[in-house]
Amino acid sequence: MDVLSHDILIVGGGGAGLRAGIAIAHAYPSLKTAVISKVYPMRSHTVAAEGGCAAVIKDNDNHDLHAFDTIKGSDFLADQDAVEAFVRDASKEVIQIERWGCPWNREEDGHIAVRWFGGMSQKRTLHAADKTGFHLLHALFQTSLKYDNLKRYDEWFVAGLLVDDGKIGGVLALNIRQGTFHILAAKAVILCTGGVGRIYAFTSNAGIKTGDGAALAYREGAPIKDMEFIQFHPSGLLKNGILITEASRGEGGYLFNKDGKRFMEQYAPSKMELAPRDIVSRSIMEEILAGRGLDGPYGSYVHLDLRHLGEAKIMEKLPMVRELCIDFAGMDPVYEPIPIRPTMHYTMGGVHTDKDGKTPLAGLYAAGEGACVSIHGGNRLGSNSLAEILVFGARAGRTAAEYARQAKPCASERLQSLAKEKMDFIQRRYIRTENGTERVGAILSDLRKTMDEKVGIYRREEGLREGIEAIQRLKERFNRIRLTQQSQVFNTELVGAMEMDNMLEVAHVVALGAFNRKESRGGHARKDYPNRDDAQFLHHSLAYQTPDGPRMEKLPVTITKWQPEERKY
Ligand code: FUM
Repeated sequence: MDVLSHDILIVGGGGAGLRAGIAIAHAYPSLKTAVISKVYPMRSHTVAAEGGCAAVIKDNDNHDLHAFDTIKGSDFLADQDAVEAFVRDASKEVIQIERWGCPWNREEDGHIAVRWFGGMSQKRTLHAADKTGFHLLHALFQTSLKYDNLKRYDEWFVAGLLVDDGKIGGVLALNIRQGTFHILAAKAVILCTGGVGRIYAFTSNAGIKTGDGAALAYREGAPIKDMEFIQFHPSGLLKNGILITEASRGEGGYLFNKDGKRFMEQYAPSKMELAPRDIVSRSIMEEILAGRGLDGPYGSYVHLDLRHLGEAKIMEKLPMVRELCIDFAGMDPVYEPIPIRPTMHYTMGGVHTDKDGKTPLAGLYAAGEGACVSIHGGNRLGSNSLAEILVFGARAGRTAAEYARQAKPCASERLQSLAKEKMDFIQRRYIRTENGTERVGAILSDLRKTMDEKVGIYRREEGLREGIEAIQRLKERFNRIRLTQQSQVFNTELVGAMEMDNMLEVAHVVALGAFNRKESRGGHARKDYPNRDDAQFLHHSLAYQTPDGPRMEKLPVTITKWQPEERKY
């Protein structure tokens, strides 16, 4: 097989991947770096981020406040040394990205504008109307184009990591357009592949978010961390789960139940609609379960009302919300309240890294939603993720570059034999499936139904046990898949099968982690264990792959100066 040689490979062309690439290309011009992305980078899910990017830039704010809000938001599961590094770097990164062209909204006097976001004690969310992800990704993408030493493999899919004696040697990747597999050699690999939202049916996540990075690392013995913590965003557009940004509430929107009551009064009186997402989502569910939701052909919901903001403010600050409502729900929020219910939005867990993006596997790094540093712990605060991809993309890029400068490349005969092993596996598992009977699409629908029903906002022992058993059965069914697409060119059925395999691995860890964590913390809400239990569960969960399923271990949380306390808003 032909070998394409590099020093560093970045898997994923979204915000974290491009930020890592720029960090390396800028400071280490002699290193050969490439970004491999299964979609054209401007189609990465970062583009869908709406409401903004949190960072301390105002005189009335400070890093300790941002750190404490983040730690309290995390239900005290975040590693506090990582959070302190994050908030400091975020302030620099948001200015850097502006220099690269990100058009932050401005106050009247010309200073950068900030808005409220949930769980924040200060207004600190920078934004570009409600299309922040688009503008931020665009600024990164156009900046990346300046660097000749940053190559791109667009529409390539990484099918496996090549690991020689505990050290990264490169990846095996499919050129989706041509249908050919290649060895891409590298001394370091940075996984920036995003979360695993697509294991759920009702989600704000793009179809590409299939947990690829987590599965790639996990299969090679690197642990994935805190996967049981799944974030449900309060405002998914009723019909399809599309994100209606939290900025709607940050700009003053209200939540009403069917009786016209602002029900957040009852659940988070001091923060109301701007409580953290886990709390607002559960409050909506409580209203619905108590019969105070509204009902329609797409299920029960509550109202997000923006009418009092007026058309001018909606058009200035929330134009995309209006566009999404008109295009996808056939209603105009200037004149009608928006029907919403919680939608799966974010994966707090991911590949286990330290605060410089390093994993326990030599030469492997991770950043962004696909990594778990952990700064989000049990629940991420809205707008901390755009800041996260900038901060940890840059940090992982620099750390990987320092490693790659002194590491030796894997011998080419060894790479060939590692790739051959992987290729044989791919042939057996995904390509020569003519005797199979199972369709990937059917397994995917069943997985999503299982996750929505058994591993959703509320979890219970019995449901989780059933969920784990169902996932094990789906894994067995996956052993008997049948692919029928004949052409190698853009064989999306083959890519879909590899993604499905990734989703099954990761979903198993999500469900088992949720089963084992017999407490409620952040986004993990056990009806049978409604309280947080620091005595037994103030620890991260690490999952290692074994032939019999995930093996779980515990990792202590790093506490610097904020002792866990009751989380009230
Ligand atoms: O609601 C939003 O705009 C989402 C932001 C985020 O997830 O950080």
